[in-house]
Amino acid sequence: MDLIHSVDALRLRLQHEPNNVFVPTMGNLHGGHIQLIKIAKPRAACTVVSIFVNRLQFGPQEDFERYPRTLESDCAKLRDAGVDVVFVPDEREIYSEPQTFLVEPSDLQHILDGAARPGHFRGVATVVLKLFNMVSPHSAIFGKKDYQQCLVLTNMVRQFALPIEIILAETVRAADGLALSSRNDYLSAEERREAPHLYQLLCEAREAIAAGARDYQPIELDVMAALAHHGWKPDYIAVRRQSDLQPPAEGDRRLVVLAAARLGRARLIDNVEVNV
Ligand code: PAJ
Repeated sequence: MDLIHSVDALRLRLQHEPNNVFVPTMGNLHGGHIQLIKIAKPRAACTVVSIFVNRLQFGPQEDFERYPRTLESDCAKLRDAGVDVVFVPDEREIYSEPQTFLVEPSDLQHILDGAARPGHFRGVATVVLKLFNMVSPHSAIFGKKDYQQCLVLTNMVRQFALPIEIILAETVRAADGLALSSRNDYLSAEERREAPHLYQLLCEAREAIAAGARDYQPIELDVMAALAHHGWKPDYIAVRRQSDLQPPAEGDRRLVVLAAARLGRARLIDNVEVNV
């Protein structure tokens, strides 16, 4: 496994690897990230993983400074997973000058996590476009845990006609249902016991919709109330259509229930798809 820090060295290493598949990450790797790598490996001769905590996608009050940075154990996990190239640029390598050109998803950045985290998806789209230009992969893999991010990046690739296949992976969960996330590290032992409740409530909402409920607002409010009752501070619970995350219209059948809520110091997100 090659550990590479500069774009020049990356390009040199990949120049004879026309067939590479890419998994961008911010590190502090867990089973969710490793699952993306498992999906990547059989698809290409060369698997490239990046680790870069991207300041541009964090708000001024968010956890950029304290985001867990665990390069040594990350590299051990990546070696075990059979990754070929790990790209770990520092900030000057990615933002050598102020980033005045930005990629803006004008629709998706104003709803749900976009509304809760102004500038977040602009930061994500901008860094992923840059990383794509550095790695030149034929495919890239993202996790559905970050559902809105998947849509932003799929739309970006389509609208800019990037020659990259986007592959979406299902959410990997702990045995009790909690979606694996680097931010789970912020939970106290007591909060960690409470945390799976989010997924349980999403599953109950999914069951209600699958059983025929079509008035979504009471379902959203019920989940909100249950979370608040258990000490959470919900940002949003929303039943949306999968295609564009807009409220479902009559006859929309491919839906997703999305949630974001704070528990102690952690802001957790999760979602479940429902096809009715
Ligand atoms: P990060 O949070 O490190 O996630 C990297 C990738 O792992 C993303 O595609 C994310 O959706 C996926 N992932 C995280 N938890 C998962 C889980 N439990 N199951 C399946 N996949 C999971 O997402 C980012 O980094 C950044 O925004 C990035 C795309 C790297 C741009 O900076």
